[in-house]
Amino acid sequence: MYPYQLKSFEEYQQAYHQSVIDPEGFWANIAEHFYWRKKWDKVLEWDFKSPNIKWFAGGKLNITENCLDRHLGTLGNQPAIIWEPNEPDEHHRIITYRDLYNKVCQFANVLKNNGVKKGDRVCIYMGMIPELAIATLACARIGAIHSVVFGGFSAQSIADRIQDAQCSLVITCDGAFRGGKDIPLKSVIDDALIGCPTVKRVIVCTRTRTPVSMLKGRDVWWEDEIKQVETMGNPACPAEEMDAEDMLFILYTSGSTGKPKGVVHTCGGYMVYANYTFVNTFQYQPGEVYFCTADIGWITGHSYIAYGPLSAGATTLMFEGVPTYPDAGRLWDIVDKYRVNILYTAPTAIRSLMGYGLGPVNHKDLSSLRKLGSVGEPINEEAWHWFKDNIGKGRCPIVDTWWQTETGGIMITPIAGITPEKPGYATLPLPGVQPILVDENGKEVTGNNVSGNLCIKFPWPGMLRTTFGDHERFRKTYFSTYEGLYFTGDGCMRDEDGYYRITGRVDDVLNVSGHRIGTAEVENAINMHAGVVESAVVGYPHEIKGQGIYAFVIAERFTHDAELTKKDILQTVSRIIGPIAKPDKIQFVSGLPKTRSGKIMRRILRKIAEGEFDNLGDTSTLLEPAVVEEIKKGKL
Ligand code: WT7
Repeated sequence: MYPYQLKSFEEYQQAYHQSVIDPEGFWANIAEHFYWRKKWDKVLEWDFKSPNIKWFAGGKLNITENCLDRHLGTLGNQPAIIWEPNEPDEHHRIITYRDLYNKVCQFANVLKNNGVKKGDRVCIYMGMIPELAIATLACARIGAIHSVVFGGFSAQSIADRIQDAQCSLVITCDGAFRGGKDIPLKSVIDDALIGCPTVKRVIVCTRTRTPVSMLKGRDVWWEDEIKQVETMGNPACPAEEMDAEDMLFILYTSGSTGKPKGVVHTCGGYMVYANYTFVNTFQYQPGEVYFCTADIGWITGHSYIAYGPLSAGATTLMFEGVPTYPDAGRLWDIVDKYRVNILYTAPTAIRSLMGYGLGPVNHKDLSSLRKLGSVGEPINEEAWHWFKDNIGKGRCPIVDTWWQTETGGIMITPIAGITPEKPGYATLPLPGVQPILVDENGKEVTGNNVSGNLCIKFPWPGMLRTTFGDHERFRKTYFSTYEGLYFTGDGCMRDEDGYYRITGRVDDVLNVSGHRIGTAEVENAINMHAGVVESAVVGYPHEIKGQGIYAFVIAERFTHDAELTKKDILQTVSRIIGPIAKPDKIQFVSGLPKTRSGKIMRRILRKIAEGEFDNLGDTSTLLEPAVVEEIKKGKL
């Protein structure tokens, strides 16, 4: 089924070697196994200075023909998506490849009827229902560029993203069910659209039946639009022919500045990479049921709920709810119910479920599980072993997959059952991935048992091509720190066996429950609150979330009711970014440690937030050394 699926450690080593000495030949051999309307003229064109990266230039394809059309003959009646609703007693849905093809074509025609054309940007703000996958694929079908925004972001965040991408249409739901909550998506969109004149149309899918306001001339119901297409006799929707380097989607992600950037992925390289990494990392076998617990609002959902599995003809399970609803046994019930073979989840979920003990795990039939995966943040050894022993019952390999929104797919990981695993380690790079460690001066750190900043020295097909509307920002962010290298922003060690262990971000980016949040963004939001003079935000180790958010805040008037002011600040952050960015701790201070030139010494604040009061370094050169003592005393 997958001629490029690696079957032994020797095959891995050979493939790796081949991918380094002849990257173009290596990837061309893999790309051969996809459906191209026209083959590429040139496999790779690159330079990390401009930067300019093109894979399979001149190749013509449509990713949905690879995810849908080409499977119809052999897999038409196979489940493409199994959907499990938020409430365990609501009926689940099974969507075969033929159903999915029909629904995508149908909705693609809806988009066309609503004026969407190739190259237009479409914002998608929906809960985890099959229509979300259908909407993204329908965009891809007609060459529209989707920008999915996670349901936990605020109206302001959505507006920023819509404006940046100049979206002309929004697809949303009346609301979304997530655990005990009912999120009023359409109402959030209504607030967002006040500042978005480019949006001419909103398509609203019914899910929660939450009352919504429908603006005449702008808002239409998904179901009505589908009926319209049905009265036209449900014509097929031929796939738009795309260039390999045409944009497929934009996904916004946080960096060290206040403004999230639109990471751009293109059609050809992304498809090949998402598929190759899916098929290999999880060693997917035809017929297996694969369950990734991420949300399609994040890159993990794009690559490993939708495009990777579907391009491989796999059965992908999509879950609307959360692991703790109605109780902490929900994931295990789902594994049991659908005989799940592969489970891909996040360390934060594992740690949170560990907290409930083995009660919710006992008596669940997990015998169908064959492979486990982890993604999004470093997995601590305790969580790794708990996952291995209690969920995998000691017989399932765990793949600790390191990658990023920018990389499009998995980069460093064990290959399930094929290459070695080691708790806490992402271990070895996949074929085609060339990691390199450098010191602060950009000098390569060679040999084993070393640490450094993680860079990648050669392009891979899944890498981002630009940041939307701002190529210079793309260059600055990823290629200017170390000349000739892609800088990941992560710190990393390489052990005596040459295995990689990612130690966390070295820039001002936090990873809270696997969600990526910029400290500058949170500071900007806090500073919006009336009465706040200045703030500094750092991360600190958090038992379940991995990192928690610690805010040091200088406020004008808070002494009369500090607790209320804290709540107001949380409310402000929720409004500006979304509930996911709310600080765990807010400490009011009278000043911040600054250098004489006025730069905040975050290193000191980080140490204090971690509770490490010794070795704060030399504080005598600070503008106001005394402030450090005050901050230490007030630590929460
Ligand atoms: C950052 C990327 C990759 C999809 C989800 C997150 C951290 C990711 C691991 C891992 C240690 C990890 C890194 C990376 N990260 N996976 N297996 N071990 N750290 O995507 O939001 O773009 O975040 O997540 O710090 O840079 P993202």
